[in-house]
Amino acid sequence: MASGKKKTVFVCSNCGYESQKWVGNCPGCHEWNTLVEETLKSDIKSEAPSAVLSRKIREGGRAKPLSFKSIEGSTEIRISSGMEELDRVLGGGIVRGSMVLVGGDPGIGKSTLLLQVCRNISRKHEVLYVSGEESLSQIKLRAMRIGEFSDSLKVLSETDLDDITEIIRESEPDLVVIDSIQTMFNEDVGAAPGSVSQIRETTAVLLRIAKDLGITIFIIGHVTKEGSVAGPRILEHMVDTVLYFEGDTKGAYRILRGVKNRFGSTDEIGVFEMDEGGLKEVKNPSEYMLSGRPENAGGSVVSCCMEGTRPLLIEIQALVCETAFGFPRRQARGTDINKVNLLMAVLEKRLEMKLASLDAYVNIAGGIKVNEPALDLGIILAIASSYKNAPLGQNVAAFGEVGLSGEVRSVTQTMQRVNEAARLGFDKIFIPYASLKDIKAPEGVKVIGVKNVGDLLK
Ligand code: TYD
Ligand code: MG
Repeated sequence: MASGKKKTVFVCSNCGYESQKWVGNCPGCHEWNTLVEETLKSDIKSEAPSAVLSRKIREGGRAKPLSFKSIEGSTEIRISSGMEELDRVLGGGIVRGSMVLVGGDPGIGKSTLLLQVCRNISRKHEVLYVSGEESLSQIKLRAMRIGEFSDSLKVLSETDLDDITEIIRESEPDLVVIDSIQTMFNEDVGAAPGSVSQIRETTAVLLRIAKDLGITIFIIGHVTKEGSVAGPRILEHMVDTVLYFEGDTKGAYRILRGVKNRFGSTDEIGVFEMDEGGLKEVKNPSEYMLSGRPENAGGSVVSCCMEGTRPLLIEIQALVCETAFGFPRRQARGTDINKVNLLMAVLEKRLEMKLASLDAYVNIAGGIKVNEPALDLGIILAIASSYKNAPLGQNVAAFGEVGLSGEVRSVTQTMQRVNEAARLGFDKIFIPYASLKDIKAPEGVKVIGVKNVGDLLK
């Protein structure tokens, strides 16, 4: 580029991909129309987080390779967030000195969740809550809905990163919450708040502080569809842990899901319910997911999926009806439409059900998204039950993977799933035949092994 001209680059606001030219379809994440032009300032060194860390270790001089044995593995110090659901998703509590990104749609409850965490932790530790979105009185209003707060929780309404870092370095709190990263402004970066370079640089500065001082920092990031504000995905590789808060903003339940975790597994979910007093933990999600289930209705089947270490009962609903158009509609909410199409093809071919000219809608009640093969049997039964207009019975549950010849194949953790179903009063449970030998039926529960969907439906 000619000198004297401002150097600009096009950056994807979804994944952070950089390109010299504008392109409509991002080569990095294949999203459309996400590239935005940003001015580069040559004096900013964007340092990879790993470089920050290793510089700390090398203390000035050049990094030296060390023998693996001589490295001391420090055991991580964890503190409880006071919310079991969150602790589990984090892998057993908040790790000291770690950086956690909490993403989600606006209005889903990120600020509420972290304000509650701040309240719990401030009972024993120093906490700083930095909000660039709300004024102090707005935060106070929200806090009053949630409950009592202790004195060791300090609140700051600020967006200037220099001021924020100065305050953090002076007061050295144990936990800092940044709400939200899209509102923070670093003067050294020319770009506007919310732009890709601004978000990236701000996070890099905060990351350095977290690792230098051993402070835990929670960053809130809004997920946005438009390109004007960059989404939290571009930060995923920098932070230690990424959690996404999902659910229907109009519904009451919220699901917190781990997407990346350097200190634990990412299989776990936390379930919360939003009411007028803030977020409440849902300790018994199966019961919650099944509440409001229709009695003895055709097309409704209860199945069991695993969310991390926890079995979760869900209701699968299917509606099969005559199409009003020439081309039948197929729709799936909460699960994969291709899976539904495949299972319908199995029913069509192996059981001679005439589904080709029918509309089909499959829905996982409760708004949760699951894509486990263990749901196959439940989905097939729901579709068949709706097709034949024959309810399966109120206390029946079913799970198992279905293959292309209609065979029912075994899935993992059969006993846990059976126990969960039995615990909630299901006394007739269909499982893969091959898994029968691995389990012991709970008292009063009839566990039936299924070899093939054909046997079951006949
Ligand atoms: P909020 O935490 O502000 O969402 P985010 O920070 O993710 O944008 O939550 C906003 C919604 O939560 C808002 O629509 C009102 C609702 N809410 C309650 O229902 N009860 C409560 O006690 C609080 C504090 C919020
Ligand atoms: Mg908020």
